[in-house]
Amino acid sequence: MGKKITIHSPATVANMVCGFDVLGFAVHEPYDIMHMEITEELGIVIVNEDDFNLPTDPLQNVAGAALLALMEAYGKPVGFKLTINKQIKPGSGVGSSAASSAGAVVGANALLGNLFSNEELVKFAMNGEKLASGVKHADNIAPCIYGGVTLIRSVFPLDIVKLNVPDLYVTIIHPQIEVKTSDARSILKQQVQLKDAIKQWGNIAGLVAGLEQGDYDLIGRSLEDFLIEPTRSILIPAFEAIKKVSKELGALGGGISGSGPSIFMLSTNESTAKSVELAMQQIYDKIGLGYHTYLTTINTSGILLSEAS
Ligand code: HSE
Repeated sequence: MGKKITIHSPATVANMVCGFDVLGFAVHEPYDIMHMEITEELGIVIVNEDDFNLPTDPLQNVAGAALLALMEAYGKPVGFKLTINKQIKPGSGVGSSAASSAGAVVGANALLGNLFSNEELVKFAMNGEKLASGVKHADNIAPCIYGGVTLIRSVFPLDIVKLNVPDLYVTIIHPQIEVKTSDARSILKQQVQLKDAIKQWGNIAGLVAGLEQGDYDLIGRSLEDFLIEPTRSILIPAFEAIKKVSKELGALGGGISGSGPSIFMLSTNESTAKSVELAMQQIYDKIGLGYHTYLTTINTSGILLSEAS
């Protein structure tokens, strides 16, 4: 009792273009900051330190839902106070709900003496994703907890593979519109053509091989999505223009970050990633749409804990 920890929980880019629900990676910027402690009072107290007005009722809050799953598995009476300062805007497509859910369970696990494995923590945190989007997907949660690029080979039963990755720069633009993951999922076609599926799994395998072998050309060739992007990209202003100019400037490729509206691009060096950022900004400036951009790198450590002062 009495120990207080600080949690830095990073943004994540799910899908990685071709790997809908099975690939995702963590980045260094942006990240949420949380403080957490065990309390004598049993149950969960959530305090919001940001202006997003998210629910503080643990049953309605993604971090609360994740923590409740952990507390059930713990099996003994316990209480937590969780103070959340979100920097990752909800509905931005860079894993805002995952950062809260995963951060809360990783923090609780540390306070309880690391009883649970990373895989168990992913399972608990997926309850937050279920609350946010109606589906237990792990492609934001897993990279948030494990760091780097993760492959979710299976959700039931959970089978997570952390991949080796070469150095990559990530440019993200978040147009100031909100796309709810549940909406972005509800518009998807439930059936796919075999010819498209063949191209898609070729790309997923190519991307995994490219990342493992540090083969940038193979990574670039594999960043293509035949199943999801054609439907979802209509929700994102100037999506095609941003993709086109980014590739012309030398980006390896990229696409919708998670369920959008953020768009991400991968580059092999910082100066390319910077020119991509400027070009993205110019496109939204021209159409008068507000945005935030991030120029960052892949975060291979995931959630970071420190003792709060
Ligand atoms: N794989 C999920 C989706 C990620 O695309 O719906 C949501 O962030």
